[in-house]
Amino acid sequence: MFAKPQSNVVSKVPGYMQSKGTQRQKAIICDREIRFRTSLQNTILDVLRARPGWQEADGDGEWDFFWCDREWIHQNYDTTFLQEHQKILHFRNYYELTRKNLMVKNLKRLKRQTEKEFGKLEAQSFDFYPSTFELPLEYHIFVEEFKKNPGAIWIMKPAAKSQGHGIFLFRKLKDITNWRKGDYQPVSDQTQKEAPELYVVQRYIADPYLVGGRKFDLRVYVLVLSYNPIKAWLYREGFARFSNTRFSLDSIDDTYVHLTNVAVQKTAPDYDPEKGCKWSLHRLRQFLLAKHGIEAVQQIFKEIDNIIVKSLQSVQKIIINDKHCFEMYGFDVILDSKLKPWLIEINASPSLTASGKEDYQLKHGLLNDVLNVLDLENRLSGQERRIGGFDLLWDDGPVLPDDSPDGQVITIPTTTTYLGCHNDRRKQLRELYRNNPTKSQS
Ligand SMILES: Nc1ncnc2c1ncn2[C@@H]1O[C@H](COP(=O)(O)OP(=O)(O)O)[C@@H](O)[C@H]1O
Ligand SMILES: [Mg+2]
Repeated sequence: MFAKPQSNVVSKVPGYMQSKGTQRQKAIICDREIRFRTSLQNTILDVLRARPGWQEADGDGEWDFFWCDREWIHQNYDTTFLQEHQKILHFRNYYELTRKNLMVKNLKRLKRQTEKEFGKLEAQSFDFYPSTFELPLEYHIFVEEFKKNPGAIWIMKPAAKSQGHGIFLFRKLKDITNWRKGDYQPVSDQTQKEAPELYVVQRYIADPYLVGGRKFDLRVYVLVLSYNPIKAWLYREGFARFSNTRFSLDSIDDTYVHLTNVAVQKTAPDYDPEKGCKWSLHRLRQFLLAKHGIEAVQQIFKEIDNIIVKSLQSVQKIIINDKHCFEMYGFDVILDSKLKPWLIEINASPSLTASGKEDYQLKHGLLNDVLNVLDLENRLSGQERRIGGFDLLWDDGPVLPDDSPDGQVITIPTTTTYLGCHNDRRKQLRELYRNNPTKSQS
């Protein structure tokens, strides 16, 4: 049973008090160091160790902040009583958005509801994920759809794996019937002791937008502090991950052409670790601005905002909301040749291992800003709309930008479109913390 912590109980932990005078009535730690734990040993550990006033908790001892892995949540969360002030990565059932089959199931459900309540036109705002079916459950519906689209390419993906593992493309139904007979057996097969792995089969975006003849996808970071109401922050920097080999539909078996995961690309024989395979989102935005102009670019980024908001809304009533929990998602998005963004998947543990110096700086800044937004140091008012590289995207409703990211006058209310804009986070933090000079910033 999920043990819901009592929200009104003020803990008797020394050094801990309920802040007065702020709108949030936030729990703060006032006269001791902030104790952290992390399950990961990469960039996040560097960030936590370097943060002024923070100290590593002793082993499994008491902690205020825990960057935990998903296994810990599975094994311990239901039996752990969290103190008022404690913060932990991941919501209890985070997988509702990050398992490929569940993500699509939740999106389909909200789309249906929207169509029922507001009509077909409104429901079209959900047309940002490629047609997807869960296997083995929806095999027959998939076959019908397959037959309606002769010549289409499909991609098969294990629902709960990552880094490109187990993914393959196909054109003919016989390719997957052979696969079903071989590696994979349907649940009804009584000779199998365990149920087979769930897969999704998805329409392959066969006309991706190319730069220099190569395919890429975007990695976009979103920090969610609450699902009820939804409060989400969008990081303005991220990256485009390129495939190493020129795009072509001649060889659909070649993962170096079709899968843009760094984990895949870095194993290519001609991969150059110095050059890597990434562009910053800022660079991509500048490139697209020069090539397609401001309106096209704003449209793309507005559509990405829509993808993020709709995705969060699709699980709003399902995720077990808890004020101790937060989530830092990595959204994977592909642009097609008409510049339409498509949601590919959402990760609750996006890779924090850096693939080079620039990547390290990006992730270091990102993680510091996650901590700045969480504000365990209690330096902020709670009314901020921008904190370092994060812009408030949704606060129980759209957050309208003060100014246009590309210097245009804003006439139509919209969510922020600062994604890929210049990330002057240090300058912004200096200004933000100016009134609190005693605490240093990161
Ligand atoms: N529907 C699709 N159309 C085009 N490319 C896709 C599609 N689905 C996945 N890909 C490519 O495969 C990569 C891995 O797929 P993804 O769904 O992100 O799985 P993983 O969890 O293994 O990263 C993506 O980064 C993208 O390059
Ligand atoms: Mg992925």
